[in-house]
Parts: sequence; C-alpha cells; structure tokens
Amino acid sequence: MDIDWQSLGFQYMKTNSHIRYVWRNGVWSQGELVDEPYLKLHIAATALHYGQAVFEGLKAFSCKDGKIRLFRPVENARRMALSTRRLCMAEPTEEMFLDACRRVVAANREFVPPYGTGGSLYIRPLLIGSGPQIGVNPADEYIFLVLVTPVGAYYKGGLTPVRAVVLENYDRAAPQGVGHAKVAGNYAASLEPHKVAHERGFPVELYLDCREHRYVEEFGTSNFVAIDRKGAYVSAQSSSILGSITNKGLQQIAADLGHRVEVRPVEFSEIAGFAEVAACGTAVVITPVNEIVRGDQVVRVGPPAGCGPVFQEIYTRYRAIQVGDTADPYGWTVEL
Ligand SMILES: Cc1ncc(COP(=O)(O)O)c(C=O)c1O
Repeated sequence: MDIDWQSLGFQYMKTNSHIRYVWRNGVWSQGELVDEPYLKLHIAATALHYGQAVFEGLKAFSCKDGKIRLFRPVENARRMALSTRRLCMAEPTEEMFLDACRRVVAANREFVPPYGTGGSLYIRPLLIGSGPQIGVNPADEYIFLVLVTPVGAYYKGGLTPVRAVVLENYDRAAPQGVGHAKVAGNYAASLEPHKVAHERGFPVELYLDCREHRYVEEFGTSNFVAIDRKGAYVSAQSSSILGSITNKGLQQIAADLGHRVEVRPVEFSEIAGFAEVAACGTAVVITPVNEIVRGDQVVRVGPPAGCGPVFQEIYTRYRAIQVGDTADPYGWTVEL
C-alpha cells in the first residue's frame, strides 16, 4: 500500500472490498464482502429506469489515540430510512446499516488516512431497486451496498471562502417533492445548474424556494447557515432541503458556545445583514461563503478572506471531536 495521503482529493479509489446485501422475498441476506467493484444488474432494474436509488455519505477517522471511529453513523441510517420510505423501497435496519459500515471499514483499515493527514475514509451506503419492472412500480428485489474510499483534507491551509451564485432558471426541489430525501435523481437534476454555475466561475450554487424565489433553500450539496449580527446561528428552514447531519452537529456546538440557534425561513434579502455565511456538509464541514451573486446584485458577507470568527471556532471544535483531539461529549463517534 503506497498512498500519498497529502495528494488525496475527493475521488473514487479502489479499495479491498465493498459490502453487499440483497433483499429477496422480504428478507435481507447476511451481507458479504465483495472484492470486485462491479454489480451484475438486471437490465430492467428499477434503479436504472425509474431512479429507485438512495444513498448516504459519512466518514471514518483515524483518531489521536490510534483508534478508528465512525462519525454519527446512526444519523445516516435514520436519514436513509427516511429516503427509503419516500421511494417505497425495502429498508435496511439501523443495526444492519451500522454493521455494514463497521465491517466494510474493518476490511479496508489500511485505506483510512492516518491521524494528522486531515484525510478520512469516506463511506458511501447505497440502496437500489434491483428487481425488474416495466411498469412504474417498486422493485421486488433490492441491493444495499456500502463502498469506501479514502479522501483528503479539503483545506490544506485555513478555511477558504467561496463565491456562490443564484441561478434564476433552476430549482432544486418542490415543497412536497423529494428534496428532503437523499435520492439519486436529485443529484442528476443538479448536474446542469452546477455546470452552468461552474462555467460562470462559481464553485457553488444557492437555491431559493421554488414558489417565490424569495426564501433561501440550500446550496447544491450543503445547507445554508449564517451568523447574524447578534451572534445567533441561523439555519435556513424548508420542507424541501436535505436535513444535514453536519448542520445538526454545528447547531449543538453553537448552542453550547452560548449562541442562540434559529432554524427558520430565511429571506434572500436578509443575507446582506448577516455577519457570516457558510455552506455545511460532510465533505468539507464548513465552507465560508463571502459573496453571493444574483443577477446584477452582488451580496458581500463576512471577512473578504478567510473564515469569520464564529464559524471558525465552531469548525475547530467539530473537527477536534471527529479526530479525537478532544473528548466527544455528545456520543457522536463510534469506535470500530
Ligand atoms: C443536498 C444536500 N444538502 C446538504 C448536505 C449536507 O448533509 P450532511 O451534513 O449530512 O453531509 C448534502 C450532503 O449530504 C446534500 O447533498
């Protein structure tokens, strides 16, 4: 094994194995570790035609004491269950989800980036309808698998702010649609706006509510959070955003640091009045956002370089818990 941990990005790297379970006749198999990163799939599988596919994303870290810990896997199990119900799929139990993550990480120990490198083992649980259907119906067979791949530190230096753009011609999700679920189709739908944003020089896009384009929803793959001028932690609320597990944790830390936490609808027009704005999610934890462009309006927030002081402090605490630099007072980490 010869991995240059410092040059790891966020790409797939082949590892020893993934773990795979099949649901047939109402029961899940015991799960087996499979070396080959390929699936043999029926050509009429519902995942392929009708998007009956949901997934998750979480991380395992090498900690200061030399142990490997999963970060909040139960939260991901619960969110996957929520997504699964929305798409009428067979549901992996919480116990099975946890066991799958543990077994696949244990089988790929040498791919967990060492403590101090800033990297982690990204864990990607995936559930797909594998049984054939020609009519639009739920499958009668499902595959649940968990793959892992090492990923690098996103920030090699300090937290670097980005510019975001609002694209008036695109919406992410409808109020009573599937935006709150982590379904594959949401991400297929995001590819075009993401490409457009990228071509215009913006690494992230900010979505507004699809009824009025008045309220903030979320960024492409992360929640919208802000610190207001009174020091409150503000998280944009909507029925069509994905409930970020990172956001939940950051809210807890913010509250424990004495910040008021407000989860509420946020109007786009409020952004200019915030002291700090950030995108949050598993991949990066916190990405400061210092400029949001909407048409010819340019909204600047927070310090022009670096991260605002409140998000910086919350981020530092969060990261310290992930890698065991400080004790975990919340029971978020699960030893392998
Ligand atoms: C649309 C969307 N919102 C928010 C998030 C952040 O969620 P989490 O903090 O659980 O990674 C993600 C990533 O999973 C996402 O894809």
